[in-house]
Amino acid sequence: MRKLFIASTLVFGLAVCGFWLASAVLTPPEAGAGVVQKTTEPQWSAEEVARHDRPTDCWMILGREVFDFSTYLPQHPSDPDVITPWCGKDASEAYLTKTKGRPHSPYADSLLPKYRIGVLK
Ligand code: HEM
Repeated sequence: MRKLFIASTLVFGLAVCGFWLASAVLTPPEAGAGVVQKTTEPQWSAEEVARHDRPTDCWMILGREVFDFSTYLPQHPSDPDVITPWCGKDASEAYLTKTKGRPHSPYADSLLPKYRIGVLK
């Protein structure tokens, strides 16, 4: 009886190890593991953003993200002179402070994803 117990424990242990080894050997490596993950998101240089510096073609950098606000500009509640100077530029600070030391509302933040076109190179 004791021999049977030892033998079955051994067989069970070997089976567990076998499955563990087989899964370690046979499971393909995760996509991109060990290599730099490629992003399909468009990447823009600051020079490219700077080319879109007009009210009708207005790109801005906020943080590391790039936005095309061309269609939003006519809807912006302030005087256009407040926002248009930031077309083609890094407007992170201006957006965070409205140039008046006050942050935009969560509603304003919620509009941003619609105009996001990629990230900074
Ligand atoms: C980047 C330069 C920008 C500057 C300097 C700027 C400045 C201002 C100013 C002065 C006001 C009106 C006064 C006030 O509410 O305190 C305002 C309001 C507002 N702005 Fe901008 N803005 C900028 C960009 C944007 C962008 C990119 C959006 C959204 C896509 C946006 C959305 C709004 C909204 C929704 C309001 C109404 C008040 C609020 O919700 O905070 N603004 N902004």
